[in-house]
Amino acid sequence: MSTPENTNSRLEACLREHAQAFRAHFGDSGGPVRVFFAPGRVNLMGAHLDYNGGPVMPTAIDRGTWFAARLRPDRRVRLASTLEPGERECTLDQLPAHGSGHWSDYPLGVVQALSQRLGEKVGETPGAGSGASRLSGVELLFGGNLTIGAGLSSSASICVGTALALTRLHGLELAPCDWVDLALRAERGFVGVQCGIMDPHAIGLARAGALLWLDCRDGSHTWLPLDPARAGIAVADTRVRRQLAQSAFNERVAECRAAFEWLRRAQPQAGCLREIALETFESERARMPAVLARRAEHVLREVARTFEARRALERGDLAGFGAQMTRAHESLRTHFEVSVPQLDCLVETATALPGVLGSRLTGAGFGGCAVILYERGAETELRERLEGVYGARFGQLPKIELFGGDPGPRELLVER
Ligand code: GLA
Repeated sequence: MSTPENTNSRLEACLREHAQAFRAHFGDSGGPVRVFFAPGRVNLMGAHLDYNGGPVMPTAIDRGTWFAARLRPDRRVRLASTLEPGERECTLDQLPAHGSGHWSDYPLGVVQALSQRLGEKVGETPGAGSGASRLSGVELLFGGNLTIGAGLSSSASICVGTALALTRLHGLELAPCDWVDLALRAERGFVGVQCGIMDPHAIGLARAGALLWLDCRDGSHTWLPLDPARAGIAVADTRVRRQLAQSAFNERVAECRAAFEWLRRAQPQAGCLREIALETFESERARMPAVLARRAEHVLREVARTFEARRALERGDLAGFGAQMTRAHESLRTHFEVSVPQLDCLVETATALPGVLGSRLTGAGFGGCAVILYERGAETELRERLEGVYGARFGQLPKIELFGGDPGPRELLVER
């Protein structure tokens, strides 16, 4: 896709600049600076299914986080960002047990998860431990071009990329699924967010030109090609950020759990909400609390839609795939109640255009972004129409970005 960020030379220029910013912050001596990249993601199908054991279809995007990094000869960990002032510093011998609400909790959580994985105990005395497997201190400078808090998974991007950087700096033989595991342990354990498994998998297992099909019941996955010559992915940011988005997300997780507990009485062998049969739900719905019935209705029908979307993609029917995205949005609006008028306006406006295949909110909802799948050639009209309609109704323009795919987390530069 012809957006400037998508060219390697543009990304490389950003990363060179980032390496310079690293030297300006941490100093020039101390060896080569290595620079890594981890993308963000959009989810096209399977909304709010990961924590219900359902299938999801995300893909990585060519916007993300970059990490300039260098090992230290001692045990100090220094974390800084070009996007935030200040620095966080601690020692590997006294890592905090939990996050403190600071952005640096995410990378620090990965340091802690890796340190535990390598058999180190938090708080052990310096010099003790497992020789070659012990971690060294590190300096890390974060930056990037991924909008934070917009539902594009900036936190998983930071966590997976930190896992990659630490792994490579220490010469450890860890695979992408290990980075995913470290990222999940950091977010759930250290940071304390009960996130689903989709985001780190979408980033860690990314392949360019493909959607990831991830079955969140057992973690099995495969890749489904999405021809970039035929279809493009745009994201329109409402610029709405809901203060209580995290607690509203946790509320949905709890409601789905309660819906499952209710329905399980009628189908005791079910292990998660995804496994409840539609017939069971239909026979129970009138007796269930109305809110729980709406949540279950979204989840169970979204599972069916996601399988249908996969079949459409496999037979090359992009319009059929897109139609499932748009249906998903309608269900997110009415049954799951995580949309806002700004998102509905973007989805309605986009899907009224002939070159648009489908659209829905991406991420958790409550503001953030709508993702739009469109046929090549529709870019200009799409942008003009979204800006015109949204601007007239809400008094500001949505931020519209055209995304290319991304091959996943990788090292891109060594500056000696
Ligand atoms: C957020 C969570 C994901 C997933 C989506 C909804 O982005 O981080 O794990 O639950 O919401 O599909």
